[in-house]
Amino acid sequence: MASLTVRQLDDTLKRLLRLRAARHGRSMEDEVRVILRDAAQESHPGGSGTEQSQAALPGRKTSRPTSEPASEDAPRVLLIIGGGIAAYKSLDLIRRLQERGAHLRCVLTAAAQHFVTPLAVGALTGERAFADLFDPQSEFDVGHIRLARDCDLVVVAPATADLLAKMAGGHADDLATAVLLATDKPILIAPAMNPGMWTAKATARNLAQLTADGVRVVGPNSGEMAERGEAGLGRMAEPLEIVAAAQSILRRGGSLAGQRVVVTSGPTHEPIDPVRYIANRSSGKQGHAIAAAAAAAGAEVTLVSGPVNLPDPPGVSVVKVETARQMFDAVEAAFPADVAIFAAAVADWRSQGTSASKIKKQLGHTPTLTLTENPDILSSIAQRTSGRPRLVIGFAAETNDVIANAQAKLRKKGCDWIVANDVSAESGVMGGDTNTVHLVTASGVESWQPQAKDQVARSLIERVAAALDGRQR
Ligand code: CTP
Repeated sequence: MASLTVRQLDDTLKRLLRLRAARHGRSMEDEVRVILRDAAQESHPGGSGTEQSQAALPGRKTSRPTSEPASEDAPRVLLIIGGGIAAYKSLDLIRRLQERGAHLRCVLTAAAQHFVTPLAVGALTGERAFADLFDPQSEFDVGHIRLARDCDLVVVAPATADLLAKMAGGHADDLATAVLLATDKPILIAPAMNPGMWTAKATARNLAQLTADGVRVVGPNSGEMAERGEAGLGRMAEPLEIVAAAQSILRRGGSLAGQRVVVTSGPTHEPIDPVRYIANRSSGKQGHAIAAAAAAAGAEVTLVSGPVNLPDPPGVSVVKVETARQMFDAVEAAFPADVAIFAAAVADWRSQGTSASKIKKQLGHTPTLTLTENPDILSSIAQRTSGRPRLVIGFAAETNDVIANAQAKLRKKGCDWIVANDVSAESGVMGGDTNTVHLVTASGVESWQPQAKDQVARSLIERVAAALDGRQR
């Protein structure tokens, strides 16, 4: 059978697949597997499909038609609608959250009311939309502090560049920002802005501050902008992607609820000059799957990722870096953590000097690249005497003597576990969707069946939860 990867699908199909996967809280690869399995089962009478449509948000057992009122134990979502063209999608987001059993309250910024009206929002939610910090009636009825506290999750969609800046600076000069400053509940933001504003240094600074403050981010996606001829990174995540991220945050009582997990993923790029760099073949699939599995188990996850071609996992704070030294700084900034999982293929060396301009070819002269060692992130975190996570897990990418090399690495690096995998060319692990791993701990070696990287991630997270519980070490 010819081999097919998600990357080979056309863009429309990829988008539909991404939405469907987000709706079900699965990776795209898992979604394809489910579709294929269901199709195969359909051809066998009695075969049952596995797909569940509109899975309820955690806290409820069933989804409900949007016309029915939410039940007492419905998760309460406060949706803050910012002033961007993507605000029209927030109306659909209200519907999608309600279908999954959520009780919605909405706050609109002044700018948001240029795009959607409090009347439309109120009609959908079945209660008045809030817009004014100084409205005596709403302050008497609910009050901004109650709005901030009487919910399980605050979602900001669209989160404009201006709103991000105000949040990062702690402003409270309107109802939306006052609520955001006052809330003690988790906050999920869905940024939406022009690509130029998204890549602006000020936005990057604000976003770094917000993720350091524990705010979760979903999106933005890349694609066409509302402005004619403009395209790039900055489109708000689709409503179903935002729902998936909200679901993973609301998943109370998961096996890792209340735990902070830091994961590294992907390769690092070590610059030689402005156009050339040292890299490796890591796709980041395994590390990203681990971050997604930890978030799905209820953990608060920070994923520090090198350059990869993968969507951000829902419900995870993602810090994007290029070099090993940036990855080290980002990991330290994400601490304290209960668990640290180092799945990144960090470059062991970088070029000793980086040329500020492109190195030109000169006839008869071959330049010499002098390398210098990068910091070993795993070993320095594992050997910390204070502030060490309770569980430090490394990966060993080996091409030969996999287990013996992994055992030596466990001792050398001082970590608790090593997940060893065979990355020889024959194994197809690098860039592929399956993995064969051995879990190496001080008490022995467990060899797992070859399985999808998503499944490896879920099994590893189950083992992590068991270890933190003291059930298994
Ligand atoms: N690692 C790290 N920082 C580095 C190098 C590696 O955090 N500078 C982590 C990786 O994320 C992985 C583990 O260390 O969890 C093992 O990495 P690997 O490259 O397999 O081991 P090395 O120590 O580089 O040894 P060798 O290349 O000799 O196998």
